[in-house]
Amino acid sequence: MTWIGTSFYFVLLDQSLRAPEAREDAEAGVGGELWEVHGGGFYHVQKYVVAPRLLPEHIAWFKWEAYTTWLSGFGLMLVLYYLEASSALVKPGDDLEPWLAVTISIALLAAAWIAYDVLNRLVSDPRVLWPVLFVLVALSAWGASELFAPRAAWLQLGSMIGTVMAANVFFNIIPAQRELIRAKEEGRDPDPAPGIQAKQRSVHNNYLTLPVLLTMLAGHFPFAYGAAHAWLVLVALMAIGAWARLFYNLRHTGRTHWWMPVAGAVAFLAVAVWVERAGDTVAAPPAAADLARGRAVFTSAGCGSCHTLADAGAAGKVGPSLDAASPSTALVADRVTNGLGAMPAFAGKLSREEIADVAAYVSSAARK
Ligand code: HEC
Repeated sequence: MTWIGTSFYFVLLDQSLRAPEAREDAEAGVGGELWEVHGGGFYHVQKYVVAPRLLPEHIAWFKWEAYTTWLSGFGLMLVLYYLEASSALVKPGDDLEPWLAVTISIALLAAAWIAYDVLNRLVSDPRVLWPVLFVLVALSAWGASELFAPRAAWLQLGSMIGTVMAANVFFNIIPAQRELIRAKEEGRDPDPAPGIQAKQRSVHNNYLTLPVLLTMLAGHFPFAYGAAHAWLVLVALMAIGAWARLFYNLRHTGRTHWWMPVAGAVAFLAVAVWVERAGDTVAAPPAAADLARGRAVFTSAGCGSCHTLADAGAAGKVGPSLDAASPSTALVADRVTNGLGAMPAFAGKLSREEIADVAAYVSSAARK
């Protein structure tokens, strides 16, 4: 959050700079300045084209916002997803080994950064770079949805983008600033190129803030990450988030296009209607429950890897034995739909009818 705030602030600042009023300032290398009022005081911020002639003693850096975001995010992922990989990361019913799923997830974080960094070094034309980056994000969203459980899939993409952003700060933006300072100390004229690169990465980061925020919060919205074609929903929402940043970034430079937020809102509504429609098909009135189909669902959804149910030849030990629990149809339907603790939710993975079928099957088989 702090990081996002800082990112918004500095892009606003950069785009609101005016040419310095005082001639001495311009001669001293000030490229732009901004008067601000906040919290009962006036601030006068000046940006030097490259660096001031004399380095000040005390300089505020902005990097721990990024590092702590990444470290805390990774820590949470470790506790909530990697340590619980068999239920939280692996798709329900998939026989991907949990340790392998964790390894793939971490490898993808590194791969995202490498792909992004190499691409940025090869392609400088933003008209090529942006579309390629967008396609890569969409591909990653799809790939994650194929590999991981729905909730983890969204977070995986968010973590990949978040890793790119933090790595931008660590490997690119901060070193460029160090170089600036080193050059000053050695009395050289600093090379402006790394600074320009760093600025470009920093702008990328700015566009990525809202998409990442979305995935960080999305764990609370099963109707979104559990929707049919959830990866497409995610890509659409991310595009809308970046679009929102574009509106503000243009607005700070004095170009306010009101049709942009209107188009964004229309697109957002369209996504909402789409998710809602897809939800409707899931929520259609259940057909008469079919025990044979329910048994097939029990097997294909992988219930047997966690539960014991003699009738289905299942001997899983992770969850309670269904033979012993002999649950009602309603209880099975509720657990399968919503999950509980280590029991994954299947809403969005199984249709309403499949859930009704498996519920009827389990409760009747367990009574045998
Ligand atoms: C990843 C392991 C896992 C899978 C897969 C799984 N479950 Fe569960 N299930 C559990 C765990 C663990 C619990 C206990 C949850 C709790 O009460 O905290 C549970 C609880 C339940 C309960 C409630 C039992 C009771 O008496 O409290 C039912 C019913 C149930 N599961 C049915 C199913 C069905 C049907 C499927 C397949 C669609 C399934 N489960 C798939 C782990 C799993």
